[in-house]
Amino acid sequence: MALIAIDLQQPQPLDWCRRLEAGDILYFPQTPIPFRPEDLSFLLGQQQTGSTLHKNIAYKPNLDTVSGLDAGATGLQQLTAVMRQYSQDVSSFLTGFLSPYQGRWQLDYASFRPQEEEGRDLPLRRRNDLLHTDAFPTRPTRGARILRFFNNIHPSRTRDWVVSDPFGVLAPRYAPLQIPLPASGNPAGRALRSLAQVAGLGYAIPSLKRSPYDDFMMRFHNFLKENAEFQANCRKEYLQFPAGSSWMVYTDMVPHAVLSGQYALEQTFLVDHEAMVSPETSPLAVLEAMTHSALV
Ligand SMILES: [Fe+2]
Repeated sequence: MALIAIDLQQPQPLDWCRRLEAGDILYFPQTPIPFRPEDLSFLLGQQQTGSTLHKNIAYKPNLDTVSGLDAGATGLQQLTAVMRQYSQDVSSFLTGFLSPYQGRWQLDYASFRPQEEEGRDLPLRRRNDLLHTDAFPTRPTRGARILRFFNNIHPSRTRDWVVSDPFGVLAPRYAPLQIPLPASGNPAGRALRSLAQVAGLGYAIPSLKRSPYDDFMMRFHNFLKENAEFQANCRKEYLQFPAGSSWMVYTDMVPHAVLSGQYALEQTFLVDHEAMVSPETSPLAVLEAMTHSALV
């Protein structure tokens, strides 16, 4: 894992894609995303009251709605407008910046994280301060990659992360001995999944619409968070992202945790697996090589 400081004067989109797919973090000391001062001060004026129900405030571009706001909170309309603008700005920046991926991603949720991360009281599997790779419990990606773009919008403080070895190193270390490999060869599971698809139930039953790949990625996320030995002894790299900076990373392959910081924005992209410039490094390819079978 390397932190690559980006020089926008020297565009090298193919290399940037390759770096991301190798598990590097692309870092912008000064964010390339424009913010209106009034929008920033509006965001910095928001303070969620330690709810465990919603980790973050989410903006769903396909519905143009914001969820996760405290009950009774005001400013929903303005928050929606600010998040819509952020989502559009990140999306249009990356369209040029990562041109090899152009038109080959799905714009997923954006989030606003107004709470102090240090000492948050969340259930173990939802904690942000334990190293983990990302997987979505209710939105399987079926091999698409989870690419996340972050902004530290705190006026002065750093956002402090720790990262560890990428998926391609960790998966063979723990699977299949400590965590079972995907059960693509399990006829009962396969039959159940196709039955659910025929009956149109795939979207009603989250665990059934997950491919064997998604199922493994979810279990791997949980395994890492629940593994005290891994959390204590794995190789760690500590990163501090200054106020006003941006960074992006494939969070499905790079284990990450946020240790402290307040006020961040984030936009998620689900990038088609077929768009990878180094497909052999993806979690799907790693797992398919380990299992010798197709997992989506
Ligand atoms: Fe995460």
